Amino acid sequence: MSADLLGLTDKKVLIIGGGQGLGEASAVFMARAGADIALVDLRPDAAEKVAGRVRELGRKAITITADALDASQVERVIAETEAGLGGLDVLVTIVGGSQLKGVLEMTLEDWDADQTRNFRYFFTYAQGAARSMVRRDVKGCIVAIATGGALRSMPFRSGYGSAKAGLVHLVKSMAVELGDYGIRVNAVAPGATFTPNSVGYMDTPAWQAEIAKIPMGRLADPDDIARGVAFMASDMARHVTGTTLPVDGGSSHAPLYDLGSSKKKSRRNVMALLGKSA
Ligand SMILES: NC(=O)c1ccc[n+]([C@@H]2O[C@H](COP(=O)([O-])OP(=O)(O)OC[C@H]3O[C@@H](n4cnc5c(N)ncnc54)[C@H](O)[C@@H]3O)[C@@H](O)[C@H]2O)c1
Repeated sequence: MSADLLGLTDKKVLIIGGGQGLGEASAVFMARAGADIALVDLRPDAAEKVAGRVRELGRKAITITADALDASQVERVIAETEAGLGGLDVLVTIVGGSQLKGVLEMTLEDWDADQTRNFRYFFTYAQGAARSMVRRDVKGCIVAIATGGALRSMPFRSGYGSAKAGLVHLVKSMAVELGDYGIRVNAVAPGATFTPNSVGYMDTPAWQAEIAKIPMGRLADPDDIARGVAFMASDMARHVTGTTLPVDGGSSHAPLYDLGSSKKKSRRNVMALLGKSA
């Protein structure tokens, strides 16, 4: 990879939820491209392990222990990032998650929990990071993790889906407001991604039918999502703002009907046409 092409060399990246999965993959990918990383996590050991991987790549890493949902911690986290890395150019918000609850069974506490864990904290960190960038005249960027479901529907996870859809909307509005300061705001919407949280769930036979519907024929892995995050954070996306990028192997375009027999028939025809064995 050419670090210069991505323009991430010496960029100071703050990752909220960097201790494993998508946060870990994003940290390592951006460090490979020359970035220094601040990792925020509830679990200091997990963040420290990822920091070690970043340092092995020759880049600076610091860890900050904080609950991302506690808005009173935002100023401290940003101040520690600025002091520890010598600045803040990129914010990546990873923390998020869903609960299985239908609208008829959901309590107001369930609803609030989804909003806080997926949407409210993003607002607090995006506002804090953008204020820091404006104060220091940095033309930085913000990358949020949404979900493919935010662009469609999420029955039985509607609290989560609504919160992530709110995030997608906020990204658009913030992008327009912050364009005046040269700050970009975007999101990445992962499709089904195999992370440490997916063990015993997406690797079960029940999921095979779901995986078969993904046009690229497989689940995403954290590195797929990290590439989307790094793209949005990089100079490759220097004129991209207010956009949500699906990284989902084409799932958002999957057809409404089963392709099984059509696929087989067409493949046989194509192979015959090209003189290859089926
Ligand atoms: N895995 C998927 O299929 C999928 C699909 C679409 C979107 N997503 C999104 O990806 C993100 C989750 O990615 P993941 O599974 O790699 O993350 P994860 O749940 O494994 O969490 C990442 C890190 O965040 C830390 N963390 C959790 N809550 C925290 C808090 N309150 N404060 C500080 N740190 C906290 C965890 O300790 C962990 O190290 C979420 O935003 C989720 O909505 C995932």
